Amino acid sequence: MSAQWKPLIEHQGYLRHFWHPVCTLSEFERANASGHGPMSVKLLGEQLVLARLDGQMVAADDRCVHRSARLSLGSVCKHEGKDTLQCPYHGWRYDETGEVKLIPACPDRPIPARAKISKYDCEVRYGIVWVRLDSSFNCTEIPYLGDWDTPGMKVIVADSYLWETSAERRWENFTDFSHFAFVHPGTLYDPFFATHPTVNVDRTNGELRFQLAPPREMYKNLPEEAPMGDFTYRCSMPYTVNLEIKLWKDDSKFILWTTASPVDEKTCRNFMVIVRTEDNQPDHVHLAFQKLVLEEDRPVIQSQWPIELDSSELSVSTDKISIQYRKWHRELSQAALGGYEEFKASLLTEVIEEH
Ligand code: FES
Ligand SMILES: [Fe+2]
Repeated sequence: MSAQWKPLIEHQGYLRHFWHPVCTLSEFERANASGHGPMSVKLLGEQLVLARLDGQMVAADDRCVHRSARLSLGSVCKHEGKDTLQCPYHGWRYDETGEVKLIPACPDRPIPARAKISKYDCEVRYGIVWVRLDSSFNCTEIPYLGDWDTPGMKVIVADSYLWETSAERRWENFTDFSHFAFVHPGTLYDPFFATHPTVNVDRTNGELRFQLAPPREMYKNLPEEAPMGDFTYRCSMPYTVNLEIKLWKDDSKFILWTTASPVDEKTCRNFMVIVRTEDNQPDHVHLAFQKLVLEEDRPVIQSQWPIELDSSELSVSTDKISIQYRKWHRELSQAALGGYEEFKASLLTEVIEEH
């Protein structure tokens, strides 16, 4: 990186304390003919293996303690009546705690105490597999997703997709009002309405919350599939956006939920869930429209350089959401260095603007 840039966030360790998605449950089940993995995923630069052992989803280091083969190339098989993950190289078998239960080449010898891989917090929620690499602070939760199990609402969990950008830039793209007129003219926005008001941005319960009412006058110039209406954002830190839209066409609720997962510093894996009031549209109509919007964004966002947020960038008043977002990231990064109490206070202290 050139000397003229300085990354906005220096210490990335705080991100390990958050829950991040690594794949959808459907992607996991399709990854191996067994339906239970194993599957290789990458989070914050770390190679992980996922496997479902006796119904429990397990995330662990994707590296055998014996001779470092990738366990994700192995298989799930039974050992003494229980599911284990078998290494592809010499067949060592690991149980759901990460301990080796069998060394086939010398089954009668004691298993060394070090024969264990590190495993991580792992849960399935919203049809998505979530992993937390560091549970030592234990004050973070899986992000908010509104109306996931509300009767009468229809849910789509889309396949995930990779973008060559940082998760921070992806989040900022999704919450950036002033790009609509230029990146999505005629799709989501009428370019005539390029200006927009500054909004109040609050911190509540680990979320950034804000609202925007785009100009209704442009509604008649947009395609019917565009889910346009009044926007309410609840954004669980660090990368999730729960955008609830009160549709102009009939006041019904449409939730566009998205989160970016930091695969590494230069790549993010993106997840999208759509929750909508029962309508007569098939799922593919909504997915195709979102794909169109994403393809308008992608080349522009992947062109931003450097890929990480840079401290020399110039902000104006209407970048308020991005300014607040960056500020909170920097605070969390510093607070994590100070330990649990500082981190928890930074994440959970309520900050409400004068309304
Ligand atoms: S490398 Fe895994 S069993 Fe040898
Ligand atoms: Fe966009």
